[in-house]
Amino acid sequence: MNKGVMIVFDGSNGAGKTTVIKEIEKHLLSKGFDVVLTREPGGTAIGEKIRNVILDPSTPEMSFMTELMLFGAGRAQHLQEKILPALKAGKIVISDRFDAATFSFQHYARGIDLEIITTINDLALNGFSPDLNVILDLDPKEGLKRVQSRGEGLDRLEDQKLDFLLKARNGYLQQAKTQPNKFSVIDASQSKEQVLTQVISIIDDLLTTHLIDS
Ligand code: TMP
Repeated sequence: MNKGVMIVFDGSNGAGKTTVIKEIEKHLLSKGFDVVLTREPGGTAIGEKIRNVILDPSTPEMSFMTELMLFGAGRAQHLQEKILPALKAGKIVISDRFDAATFSFQHYARGIDLEIITTINDLALNGFSPDLNVILDLDPKEGLKRVQSRGEGLDRLEDQKLDFLLKARNGYLQQAKTQPNKFSVIDASQSKEQVLTQVISIIDDLLTTHLIDS
């Protein structure tokens, strides 16, 4: 493989991204691929510090624009320091959330103008785009139940009204509708086995196409 592939797992809070990502990593390693797991917010030392600031539930006063620019700052660092070098080395990068989350949460849920979101993402990404976004779609009510059952407490973004999470979910579905070649939506209310079978099939198809094209 000449150039790596970047796959993003995203979607509703509590939809099971972490579990699916671990299983997909196992699947890809067993096929001999080099895999880099990462996440947003986070992914680098600087990004993890930014993550702590963004998600801290003790600072509910953070303005929407501050939040947006922090996501953008973390993404710029993430791309340059970690993602681009890994792709250049032919690895498969799997990120737990990426730019689609900014459209869903900061545009569809917070209501920041699309133009502003696009500008911040463009500054961070400079034309880069992941190969595929796998959206694990789940009713936010069910997602919150799952998050609460982990007993970890809610972060600043989970600790929002249900309406906020519904709008974010709708944001993912809208993006999937307008960019069907970049998004695959999986019904995360299915069993873990069903979700995994579908995700593995999508990723195997993507990698086959990529190998043929490269
Ligand atoms: P996580 O809980 O999946 O680790 O994600 C942290 C939270 O950050 C989650 O509620 C979604 C939110 N988020 C945004 O609002 N905008 C973004 O650009 C990203 C990457 C995450």
